[in-house]
Amino acid sequence: MKGLILAGGHGTRLRPLTHTGPKQLIPLANKPNILYCLEDLRDAGITDIGVILGDVMPEKVKELLGDGQAHGVGITYVVQGFPAGIAHAILCAESFLGDEPFCVYLGDNVLKGGIRPMVREFEEHAYDAEVMLCHVPNPEKFGVAELDPKGHILSLIEKPKAPKSDLALVGIYLLRKNIFPIIRSLKPSWRNELEITEALDHLRSQGRSIKAHIVTGWWKDTGKPEDILEANHLLLEDIEHGIEGTVEPGARVEGRVRIGARSVVKTGSVIRGPAVIGQDCVIGPETYVGPYTSIGDGSRLVGADIESSIVIGDAIIETRHKIVNSLIGRYATVRSAEGRLPKGQQLIIGENSALFL
Ligand code: TTP
Repeated sequence: MKGLILAGGHGTRLRPLTHTGPKQLIPLANKPNILYCLEDLRDAGITDIGVILGDVMPEKVKELLGDGQAHGVGITYVVQGFPAGIAHAILCAESFLGDEPFCVYLGDNVLKGGIRPMVREFEEHAYDAEVMLCHVPNPEKFGVAELDPKGHILSLIEKPKAPKSDLALVGIYLLRKNIFPIIRSLKPSWRNELEITEALDHLRSQGRSIKAHIVTGWWKDTGKPEDILEANHLLLEDIEHGIEGTVEPGARVEGRVRIGARSVVKTGSVIRGPAVIGQDCVIGPETYVGPYTSIGDGSRLVGADIESSIVIGDAIIETRHKIVNSLIGRYATVRSAEGRLPKGQQLIIGENSALFL
């Protein structure tokens, strides 16, 4: 079986972060989202993997994954360019996928528990397709599946106004080559995309079997900032304690915390886990890093107070303003303007930024 990871799309809901790179590279617990997808495929025995590239700095995806060898897989890049839909991306990979069954994994999805049982089930049966479903509180925001008592799909509808179940379509699909002619016959949807939900529904209406596999752990689609923070939170729940850097006398580390090589936690600082600090960071003096926070490599936090947040890396935070539920991009600087503007905030804010003061 082959794998196909989708790393295209414009990620408009994540601007301005996606002005400078694909959303699939945003780190969750200090690891780019796309690596979780790649590892799930590899751990299910799928090592021949295609990666769909879009038109938002695709070279950054290549820089991270290379030929895949470092991650125990082989990678073939497939250029989609403009995001004309998930089904369109799959069609772009037709010649790479050939006659083999394949697993499509959206590069901005993250799953607890991996895909091994689902892949095994598909290999052992002759289903035409197998999809992963997850119970969600707001099904109207997703593709929604209706099942028969045996777990086969009865209907699939994208963002229904009156959902027939609370089962959302997860961005992981097991397919065969019989999906290609169906995709070719699709018309673009209202959002001008070739929709995978529609392709699957056509497959079903041809009388083909589509098996459903329900998520037993958790699943997150990291399309919006709050989803990224939640995925980071869920992943940090499972991190193991391990300190490679230095915790100076007078600094405290509480709970499960990972601190990377050459990082220093300076006096008067507290790191309260679960939290991860990357390599080459300086935390402190007098800095608080609270639970569910990930600080990326090369960051410097001086006198800061931050929790439930992601600092992507190489950032400078020197402010006493408490930072919560925040996503701070690479090379960002957050400083206090104290002494200069006592009654106001000095703001230098880029296009499409969101600021909650
Ligand atoms: P979406 O989140 O539906 O689309 P998007 O990435 O363009 O984001 P936004 O709606 O915020 O503008 O895409 C789901 C996944 O599929 C994501 O990993 C990107 C990928 N994708 C492609 O690779 N090609 C495509 O044509 C589309 C639409 C998505």
